[in-house]
Amino acid sequence: MKNDQARFFGAAAAETYDDLCTGDISATIAFLEDRACGGPALELAIGTGRIALPLAERGVRVDGVDISPAMVDRLRAKPGGDRIDVTIGDFAEVPVEGLYRLIFVVFNTLFNLGSQNDQVRCFENVARHLTEDGVFVVEAFVPTFLCRLRDDQYVNAESIEADEVRLDVLRHDAATQRLYESHVSLSNSGVRLFPVVQRYAWPSELDLMARIAGLSLKERWGGWSREPFNSASAAHVSVYGR
Ligand SMILES: C[S@@+](CC[C@H](N)C(=O)[O-])C[C@H]1O[C@@H](n2cnc3c(N)ncnc32)[C@H](O)[C@@H]1O
Repeated sequence: MKNDQARFFGAAAAETYDDLCTGDISATIAFLEDRACGGPALELAIGTGRIALPLAERGVRVDGVDISPAMVDRLRAKPGGDRIDVTIGDFAEVPVEGLYRLIFVVFNTLFNLGSQNDQVRCFENVARHLTEDGVFVVEAFVPTFLCRLRDDQYVNAESIEADEVRLDVLRHDAATQRLYESHVSLSNSGVRLFPVVQRYAWPSELDLMARIAGLSLKERWGGWSREPFNSASAAHVSVYGR
């Protein structure tokens, strides 16, 4: 699974990643800056620096971990990218030295760790790298959409343009809690697949992982603007600490 992730986020994905992720991140940055309390901060799965770079611009020292050299090359090519200390490795291991006031993993990426064991290991290793008052912030989806799947799968037309059609296809394996998904681009130049495999967990399972690691839930929000978390929430922002 780990090697698959490096392959999934290879050169082709790195090339298009920032063009596809264009949402407003101002609330995310404000939330993380507040929780960093001056830093230092560590982003697990830092990717192209979509979040880390604007956070660093606010004066917070941000280090990162990522398994994909292609994604990190993109980060390096951006203004300020050469000032971020990135370790190439598996974020389940948190392969860095030192302590952080904030460690964070956003955009559902905790679920890129393909097993419960790796996710628990991640919580345990995060706990080892938090300062006494440090926090671990996780942003992830709530898998409420599963009950709307038919035959444990879906196909969704994400965009239909004259020169390109983009489909999102997904299969669910209930036994392993895995989602096998691919964004498929169809155009006259050919078919391109952008696959991703995720092992999802309900918020309550993440809370148990935190407890195993000696952490507990301090706050849970329905989004970065501190929307209330309730049964209608499609995502959560959870803050764990000692
Ligand atoms: C969806 S991108 C998120 C990047 C960035 N955090 C953001 O929000 O834009 C997922 C990133 O996770 C990285 N990744 C996936 N599995 C990993 C693992 N086991 N260890 C380190 N990085 C991993 C990929 O290389 C990719 O850069």
